[in-house]
Amino acid sequence: MEFAAQLSAYVERVERGIDALVPPAGTRPARLHEAMRYSLQAGGKRLRPVLVLAAADLFGRRHNALPAAVALECLHTYSLVHDDLPCMDNDDLRRGRPTAHRQFDEATALLAGDALLTLAFQLLAHHYAAAPALCAALTREFADAAGSQRLIGGQMEDLLAEKKADATAAELDFIHLNKTAAMITAALAGGGLCGGATEADLGRLRETGRSLGLAFQIVDDVLDATADTATLGKTAGKDARAGKTTYVRLHGLDAARRHAEAQTEAALARLAALPGDSAFLAALARRLAARKS
Ligand code: IPE
Ligand code: IPE
Ligand code: MG
Ligand code: MG
Ligand code: MG
Repeated sequence: MEFAAQLSAYVERVERGIDALVPPAGTRPARLHEAMRYSLQAGGKRLRPVLVLAAADLFGRRHNALPAAVALECLHTYSLVHDDLPCMDNDDLRRGRPTAHRQFDEATALLAGDALLTLAFQLLAHHYAAAPALCAALTREFADAAGSQRLIGGQMEDLLAEKKADATAAELDFIHLNKTAAMITAALAGGGLCGGATEADLGRLRETGRSLGLAFQIVDDVLDATADTATLGKTAGKDARAGKTTYVRLHGLDAARRHAEAQTEAALARLAALPGDSAFLAALARRLAARKS
């Protein structure tokens, strides 16, 4: 199948999975479930769940990877809802719509984020109960990636580095590797686990995720500095205004673009070492490097 058709097939599977696996908006308390669905169903590229499904397909899909894919999108969406709160990045726009705390209120956004985070692990516990070893491995992979030493740790250091005049390249790498690359790594490894990848191939998937994740966040920093709000679906130019430590601030636009290219090339080289047909994942990595939103 051609890349664009394959990508929309994966995205459609994810959308259907979200609709089927997340409690209906009318579930009591309706305001909370509405807010969860509002943020989840606002669109978004669905990168992480697509990576889960595509990585599983590399290995013959031993187990259904869709609940793991939806769980990861729930984790990612929770991190965006909280990232946008006034006490963090204070953003009004996300995925082309008012942020959850703007559409509802801060307390509802906070609780919807909490609920999405919890739902991710409910989905793993319920849908992989018949495969206890896989259930434990997915839980470990996702919990480690989302925890205090990875995603949340990266978010903490991102805030601590705001307006920090002497931030170093090593500090910036810590932020990017943890706030962003950890979840992209977990997506590839989670897919590999569902597909029955060997330990050696899981290692290759994690290395791929590290490079792809770094490239992804560098491009996010570049787009924040160069794209417009309408195209991004989130407020452009906010990193500079908040004094964030980003690739653009530390290394400049040209070097940031070169770093993103180099990390994309590294991801492509690692993908080539995987078994199965990794053409889709390679095309996706290239597409992400050239993305406009
Ligand atoms: C935004 O992620 C947060 C970052 C890690 C840069 P995405 O750019 O994948 O956001 P959506 O899911 O498409 O909205
Ligand atoms: C990614 O960093 C944050 C998350 C891990 C949620 P940003 O703060 O740069 O993400 P955007 O630009 O708001 O999407
Ligand atoms: Mg942030
Ligand atoms: Mg932000
Ligand atoms: Mg950003």
